[in-house]
Amino acid sequence: MRYALIGCGRIAPQHLPFALESGFEVVALCDTQSSAIDSLLAATGLCDLSVQRFTDYTKMLESCALDVVAIATDSGSHSEIALNCLKHGISVLVEKPMALSIEDAEEMIAVAQEQGVLLGVCQQNRLNDSTLLVKDALSRGAFGTLSHVSVQVRWWRDNSYYEQAPWRGTWEKDGGALMNQCIHGLDLMRLFGGEEIRQVSGYIANRNHPSLEVEDVGVGFVRFANGVIGTFEGTTNLYEKNLEERITVIGEKGTVVLSGESAQDVEVWHFADPEVMALLKHFDPPPTDSVYGNSHRRVYHLFKEALEGTRPLALDGRCGKRALELVLAIYQSHREGRTVTLPLTSFSTKEMSLSPL
Ligand SMILES: NC(=O)c1ccc[n+]([C@@H]2O[C@H](COP(=O)([O-])OP(=O)(O)OC[C@H]3O[C@@H](n4cnc5c(N)ncnc54)[C@H](O)[C@@H]3O)[C@@H](O)[C@H]2O)c1
Repeated sequence: MRYALIGCGRIAPQHLPFALESGFEVVALCDTQSSAIDSLLAATGLCDLSVQRFTDYTKMLESCALDVVAIATDSGSHSEIALNCLKHGISVLVEKPMALSIEDAEEMIAVAQEQGVLLGVCQQNRLNDSTLLVKDALSRGAFGTLSHVSVQVRWWRDNSYYEQAPWRGTWEKDGGALMNQCIHGLDLMRLFGGEEIRQVSGYIANRNHPSLEVEDVGVGFVRFANGVIGTFEGTTNLYEKNLEERITVIGEKGTVVLSGESAQDVEVWHFADPEVMALLKHFDPPPTDSVYGNSHRRVYHLFKEALEGTRPLALDGRCGKRALELVLAIYQSHREGRTVTLPLTSFSTKEMSLSPL
């Protein structure tokens, strides 16, 4: 399958090697800054890779007869590029967030369906060993009646991070701490809490990044359709370094706390059922030196298998839309000063720019 990557910046080293490893024929790399392509090849030790290079992705689409494209550009450009690729009949694996509005996410899902191609979203933390362990316990009913899920993302991003590229920290092309950094934690809250959400309320603020228009801290409260409650706190305001991403799942017969920088460690695993207690013995995740974790590799392997028709796509456009919807619901709740009922039919980060936080 003929593959190309659009966007060769910071996250691209989590794409190119795994595209090769999972058996895609990497035919082209595209970045508006051609130096980014060189940097990616150097960073991944692939300087000898024989690929075509493009600075205009539309020219690449016309000339490369691609089957699949991965999109790792700024968040504000995902939907336009993805829709263009999908309309060319090309399957798309897009970085999170899949889009910055509900309408764009829905259009991407609809066009992929019309074209009969796949739309995958890189919400790789759904595939972490720690996540899979909790999912296993949930699927066995080991928590009994689930009470609540609590998520804290306590990270650090200083001005030098936001100054790396003009799209960062803007409503037009990024969103703030919740949309960029905390979306994975919110995604896991949704996964563990039962996916279907009735109501969301939240507040956001910008406390320590006065040069940005977006939030650097936010809280959210969620009522799931099954009665479970979710509480969320996320920030990029920690002093000097990331502290943790912590997810607590509390049920009648079990308690789990995932911790570490990206909720990859199991700090508490406490269940009434001894068989479920024993599951922890097999928990041996590969070490990671990156806040992104290890699971882009799994995203790629599963996406390839879905393209080959050997299994359904797990992290699809609907999954991407659910995470996006939860972030947008907190934004909308803050902006309108009310509890928001899901499903959201319309909202965009751009609406947040209409008045200061
Ligand atoms: N899944 C994760 O854990 C994770 C982690 C980091 C970033 N991301 C997401 O990946 C995306 C990229 O983030 P990043 O940190 O790599 O950003 P970045 O700014 O480092 O890289 C983006 C690259 O895209 C290029 N680009 C922009 N528009 C383009 C276009 N039209 N055609 C071709 N190239 C174009 C830029 O020149 C740049 O090199 C963002 O949406 C971000 O949210 C996901």
